[in-house]
Amino acid sequence: MAPNCPEEVDVFTVPHSRMKELVQKYLDMIISTNFSDVFHLTTLLKNLLNTFHEFKAHEQIENKYIMKKLKSKLKALSIQNTAVCNCHKDNKLTDILSLLEDGYQCTKKSDVERINYGIKLRKALEDFTQDFIPHMEEEEEVFQPLLMKYFTFEELRELKAQVLEQHFEK
Ligand code: FEO
Repeated sequence: MAPNCPEEVDVFTVPHSRMKELVQKYLDMIISTNFSDVFHLTTLLKNLLNTFHEFKAHEQIENKYIMKKLKSKLKALSIQNTAVCNCHKDNKLTDILSLLEDGYQCTKKSDVERINYGIKLRKALEDFTQDFIPHMEEEEEVFQPLLMKYFTFEELRELKAQVLEQHFEK
């Protein structure tokens, strides 16, 4: 959570609690999956696809409701901030989703190939997690204070309501 941020205008902490819960679930799941077992692998892939589609939706909501508005506010004030422009520019989510789709091909392959896929998937998820947790911290500790600096309390209350509605009330 951003330091000194009133709950009413904190746009990141609630969605990030959900994202962190999902991270913990897949870290637990990947440890307990037996990749030589097709049923185990298929169940894991299905859960991971749901999780990473939820991460993708989270990113799209942030882009549309937070980053775009922050960028245009900064632009109107002639303030340059490349971190805001680049924070979702990488393809990490797309890469993991593509790796998960590859996993379904492994369900038709040998035990050894499934186990090798498991090693690759575990490494990719660890790498993703190592970036994703600090990314969320950056949003909470750097972008939330920027929002509080350049938006009014009422604007941020409205923004938070939109962000939560998009995440949880569909
Ligand atoms: Fe809140 Fe960009 O993840």
